[in-house]
Amino acid sequence: MASASTLFVVFPLFLGLLIGSSSAQLTTGFYCKSCPSVFKTIQAQVWSAVAKEARMGASVLRLFFHDCFVNGCDASILLDDTPNFIGEKNAAANRNSARGFEVIDAIKTAVEQACPGVVSCADVLAIAARDSVVAFGGPNWDVKLGRRDARTASQAAANSSIPAPTFNLSRLISSFQAQGLSVKDLVALSGGHTIGQARCTSFRSRIYNETNIDTFYATTWQANCPRTSGSGDNNLAPLDMKTPTSFDNHYFKNLINQRGLLHSDQQLFNGGSTDAQVKAYSQDAKTFKADFVAAMIKMGDIKPLTGSNGEIRKNCRKIN
Ligand code: HEM
Ligand SMILES: *[C@@H]1O[C@H](CO)[C@@H](O)[C@H](O)[C@H]1NC(C)=O
Ligand SMILES: *[C@@H]1O[C@H](CO)[C@@H](O)[C@H](O)[C@H]1NC(C)=O
Ligand SMILES: *[C@@H]1O[C@H](CO)[C@@H](O)[C@H](O)[C@H]1NC(C)=O
Repeated sequence: MASASTLFVVFPLFLGLLIGSSSAQLTTGFYCKSCPSVFKTIQAQVWSAVAKEARMGASVLRLFFHDCFVNGCDASILLDDTPNFIGEKNAAANRNSARGFEVIDAIKTAVEQACPGVVSCADVLAIAARDSVVAFGGPNWDVKLGRRDARTASQAAANSSIPAPTFNLSRLISSFQAQGLSVKDLVALSGGHTIGQARCTSFRSRIYNETNIDTFYATTWQANCPRTSGSGDNNLAPLDMKTPTSFDNHYFKNLINQRGLLHSDQQLFNGGSTDAQVKAYSQDAKTFKADFVAAMIKMGDIKPLTGSNGEIRKNCRKIN
């Protein structure tokens, strides 16, 4: 009798501790009762944004990555700079580059109308990123929820935590490991570059100065990205030349053919430790998609604010 009741008391406590210490308390059913319409509300907004401009889905996926890598998935990237607040929008990796903020605003407005004060901007971003992948024909998954929004942001952390396209393989690996993500996660998540675009400044030195690049491919993009810095800096090229609006494994096939657009992309297939995984994904889209989903869920678990930490922002651009 005594031992049975002790078990009843101790076991849930122990389980709670275990879950709490590993990946906080995010759950897929977090808004089941408080906002049952959250998924259809967000999906409708994402689909309408992508219908207007296909690239927008890519931009939203990248926002989620740039949010999670800077002190966790807490919507810190969405905060606007003000005269007395420096946010992350002008950090090196985001300035003139991060986009999609208006889509998040539109989603948040719709969600606030349905369930005022309930759904965090951090969760809106997590769900919108998933819906974007699905909109491009990518895999679907249940998003873990219950994140709350930061009351702070850090431009310094954004500068130091978001990997740059100039990074070599070992720096890419340590950048992901600093977030608790593995080498396998690095390669799978880099498959996000199967959609979207990059600016000339991000790939100029690659197409003019590198030798591990297909000549025809380099010449093609040189035509739209002048050698001299300052001219054509914002001209765009697709990260996956073959199928830029389809979430498939062509990104990895491109790498095998030395057609990675960014220096960092080609680092994943350059005679190093990740070659085998790139090759496997290039031959097997199913495994890539399964690993991408697992890694997205892992990335979404980075340091969320839960319980009474943070807040549910009313407007994603500013703290309440
Ligand atoms: C592995 C390290 C990574 C590096 C160095 C990197 C770097 C970049 C750069 C330089 C761009 C182009 C930005 C511009 O020129 O304006 C870009 C675009 C993009 N990145 Fe990454 N990225 C990385 C990982 C990821 C991950 C993990 C994801 C998501 C899972 C992702 C999703 C995207 C998407 C979707 C775009 C296109 C955005 C658009 O068209 O607006 N990237 N990335
Ligand atoms: C972050 O990087 C940007 C662009 O390089 C720079 O202007 C800014 O001063 C940096 N911010 C901090 C806090 O280091
Ligand atoms: C990668 O880059 C870092 C920093 O620039 C450098 O210290 C390191 O030697 C490089 N590693 C390789 C294997 O090239
Ligand atoms: C190519 O490399 C040289 C030597 O490091 C450098 O001076 C030049 O600016 C680079 N060109 C481009 C387009 O990056």
